Amino acid sequence: MSSDNKNFSGGLQTKQLVIDTANFYTEGVGQEGISRTELAAQTSEIEQAQRRMQDGSDGGLDADYAALNLAHEMPAQLPQIHEMATGLRRHQDVLVIGIGGSSLGAKALQQALEPQTALAGNPNLHFVENIDSYFLQGLLSRLEAESTALLCISKSGGTIETVVQFLVLRDWLNRQLGKKNALRHQWVITDPKRGWLRELAERDGLPSLPVPPQVGGRYSVLSAVGLVPLVVLGADIEALLQGAADNAARCANADISSNPALEIAALSVLLDTHRSKRTAVMMPYANRLQLFVDWYCQLWAESLGKWDRTRPDNTPAGTLPVRAMGAVDQHSQLQMYLESRHDKFFTFIQLETGKHDLPIPLDGFDLPHFPFLEGRSMAEVMDAEFRATRQVITGAGHPNMTIHLPVLDAHVLGQLIDLYQRATIYAGLLYGINPLDQPSVEIGKRLAIDYLRGTPR
Ligand code: PA5
Repeated sequence: MSSDNKNFSGGLQTKQLVIDTANFYTEGVGQEGISRTELAAQTSEIEQAQRRMQDGSDGGLDADYAALNLAHEMPAQLPQIHEMATGLRRHQDVLVIGIGGSSLGAKALQQALEPQTALAGNPNLHFVENIDSYFLQGLLSRLEAESTALLCISKSGGTIETVVQFLVLRDWLNRQLGKKNALRHQWVITDPKRGWLRELAERDGLPSLPVPPQVGGRYSVLSAVGLVPLVVLGADIEALLQGAADNAARCANADISSNPALEIAALSVLLDTHRSKRTAVMMPYANRLQLFVDWYCQLWAESLGKWDRTRPDNTPAGTLPVRAMGAVDQHSQLQMYLESRHDKFFTFIQLETGKHDLPIPLDGFDLPHFPFLEGRSMAEVMDAEFRATRQVITGAGHPNMTIHLPVLDAHVLGQLIDLYQRATIYAGLLYGINPLDQPSVEIGKRLAIDYLRGTPR
């Protein structure tokens, strides 16, 4: 992909992500990067990953990688999505009860799209995720049951954190409104056939939408799981889906020079397996992307942190995703990045600030202290910080890539989501592991239930 010597603050011509992987290669970063020869030696594995991706994507919502088809499949379900959101939007406060993949995507998009959605008249969306009774009590003390709606999201329909909080919240509604009225404040998104939540929705006649069975939790943000909360907020989900579809079209072939998802996956895996880079730091320069990084961390960690069960030596796979924030972590983590072990690679995300920029006012007292700020804006300071940090990271020999965002809107976020979902699946195929399951997490879930039964093993 293209090398970046341009000043992107000057304005991009298109709304497509600009993905600059030059510093992942030896020519950009020196011997800690991947050489073109090493990459070429992987051609047959990369082509095989592409074939398996194509085979696994055939069949719409029944495909193995159904999540990657949501951008094309969900438009047909938009009337039902909007109908559910319309019911929810009649309330001032909407509580989205769910955890992990049933929460992180919508949360990330809520934060990223805040300038477009935090408008008078839109409901307040609250994410009830962690099982923290102090948090829940505090939230309830600020709510009126009459103007509150519950949206319970669980693909399995039985995740203990979600079940418990839904039970507590239903009881709160029942006590305030009476059982019959309370039912009119509850909506559900879950498996179409199975699980406690599905049975409950049917027993109580709660309006519900399905999570397609083939779509895994952390890959579900473009299904009803993410789309309903976003419509409640008034976000442009058509643009989100279009962005994902556009990125899918961009990543359709086996040539990594024109398929950024495949290139990111191949280089990330090689940095791990050939250069012992075990940590993947993602560092956006925009507060509004903090929760997007949380979403990415779950996707990357839960999908790739596995050992290859097909090999006798149980080879471990995966790089540990780490959250960082520019410029804040320049004053926290950067020293460690620069001088400690060379076991990391970096992804910077740079956002063109555009209309949200602010000029820096200086008077005669300030000017002699900060002459370099004269005529500058906040975005220019952030841009200089990003460039300086990337330069020292590169100078220290750490492989890094940069994604430049022309704007932060639903279309760009759709591209980012598809890019990382696709890169994660490609990486799983290249490691030889299944990027869709989470076997060890399931063990922990079962053990927690054993503790509650009083029979820990
Ligand atoms: O990616 C996953 O499968 C998990 O993170 C799930 O999203 C999480 O455990 C919540 O599961 P559920 O949606 O079944 O409640």
